[in-house]
Amino acid sequence: MSHAAAPGKVILFGEHAVVFGEPAIAVGIDLETRVDVIPDERLKAHTVNGRSISTYAHLFIEKAVSLLWENAGNTTPLAIRTSSRLPSAAGLGSSAALSTATCAALLHLTNQFSEVRLARAAYETEWLGQEGRGSPIDTSTSAHGQALFISREKQEGHLWTLKRGERVWNIHHQEMPRLTMVVAHSGQKGKTADAVAKVQMYVDRTDFAETIIQDLGKLTLDGRDALLKGDMHRTGELMNEAHELLGMLGVSTSRLDELCRVARDHAYGAKLTGGGAGGCIIALSDEPEKLKEALQAERAEAWIVHSARKGARAWGRTVGRPSRRPRREPPEDGAGEEE
Ligand code: PMV
Repeated sequence: MSHAAAPGKVILFGEHAVVFGEPAIAVGIDLETRVDVIPDERLKAHTVNGRSISTYAHLFIEKAVSLLWENAGNTTPLAIRTSSRLPSAAGLGSSAALSTATCAALLHLTNQFSEVRLARAAYETEWLGQEGRGSPIDTSTSAHGQALFISREKQEGHLWTLKRGERVWNIHHQEMPRLTMVVAHSGQKGKTADAVAKVQMYVDRTDFAETIIQDLGKLTLDGRDALLKGDMHRTGELMNEAHELLGMLGVSTSRLDELCRVARDHAYGAKLTGGGAGGCIIALSDEPEKLKEALQAERAEAWIVHSARKGARAWGRTVGRPSRRPRREPPEDGAGEEE
């Protein structure tokens, strides 16, 4: 049996703007998804949590199995079990953590695990499973953990490069103090693909959206400086500004605005995180318990989270020879291109 665990993430700065090549910073969090994979000749077909695999219910798992198991010529059915502490459609990267943990378990099972191969396969899986998804920020953060800086250009700390059509993302390790954050759920599901499509529409039809996206990119760079200096007051101010700009792009909601307002009484700053249009806010605070209580008093589900020390891990039994590569590699200009 092969086991894997992969963290969710929060985006501190640069969501939506990263889809257009602007820089972003994301941090892995200590809420994880776990996947176990057992090859079982007695099964007629793959199962997930004891039920037959179906495209409707298990889209990402099905894509990962096809990419890393079936395309490598394996025919043994798999019994797959999943469990997660991450709420879905909340901007915390739950689908990326599931894709990444499934790919990690399969890469380990077939003796192919490496962090870069995982980042590549997990992005390919998410891309195949979620038409219209933008950047590789979620899957790369889940693979690497800790903190990532994503930019168009290659810089110090470079980990890997991923491409999709014309767009190029260079993924870097970002040094950062360990952060304690409070995450609160708006109670509304946020569909990332719809939010990304809405921003694209503003970019296509208005003059202001492109400027906002560039401003969000600048905030990311200022946010990185502030975080590196350990200046939480400035970091918080920049988070507040980022939230305002994301609101102008149409991806905030009145509930997210309200939760940010409440959070700011006990926090350096607060903003929506991820796709928005529902989902979660994050707030940076050195009074996390008080902040969590204030948000719960507003009937929001809230968690104290810390930045994850580690990215995805896999362990357990393997099959096959070391370094067997999948028969079909991701397309040359596809999600997974690696340098
Ligand atoms: O909502 P999430 O956790 O999937 O984050 C989406 C981040 C976006 O920048 C809005 C889209 C992307 O793919 O980068």
